[in-house]
Amino acid sequence: MTKIAVFASGSGSNFQAIAESILRGELNAKIELVITDKPGAFVVTRAKELGIPVLEIAPKTFASKADYEQAIIDALQEKNIEWIVLAGYMRLIGETLLSAFPNRIVNIHPSLLPSFPGKDAIGQAYEHGVKVTGVTVHFVDAGMDTGPIIAQVAVEVAESREETEERIHQAEHKLYTATLKQLFQ
Ligand code: GAR
Repeated sequence: MTKIAVFASGSGSNFQAIAESILRGELNAKIELVITDKPGAFVVTRAKELGIPVLEIAPKTFASKADYEQAIIDALQEKNIEWIVLAGYMRLIGETLLSAFPNRIVNIHPSLLPSFPGKDAIGQAYEHGVKVTGVTVHFVDAGMDTGPIIAQVAVEVAESREETEERIHQAEHKLYTATLKQLFQ
């Protein structure tokens, strides 16, 4: 069984989808720890309901990004974490974490990368008027949503943003769990 940590900054619907997939016996992994850089984010409520330990760690309470990431590494090593799964973690990963987990950090992004990296990828899709967008799972490097692509799926843009968000989230939950399953085999 692969020991993972999920990093999230917000709602945590992808975290929940992964946790449920594990509970259904579809994904042979264990979420040992949820880490959030936003204390009080809704992902904390979700994790507590599922009985999964949470580390709420605010970067601004550390002198540097390296110190912040070292504190995270200490928590990860204590639990023998093998993979880091970013699920709406809205912060660049620095060299400290990258070198501690080489090729063991994955991210999901709500666009067909390399289009629309960074914040509000769905809003960017509307600004550009594209008719098809999608979801990408990729290895993490030092850039913003730039590492090697592992899996992608296309999603048709709906008239309403709400409907597109719903389609994207559904596609994310399916693609992330399926891709993690392959990676952990
Ligand atoms: C997801 O759509 C994820 O792809 C996106 O944040 C959302 C988090 O939703 N990530 C990025 O934009 C990364 N650049 P969730 O908190 O409900 O899982």
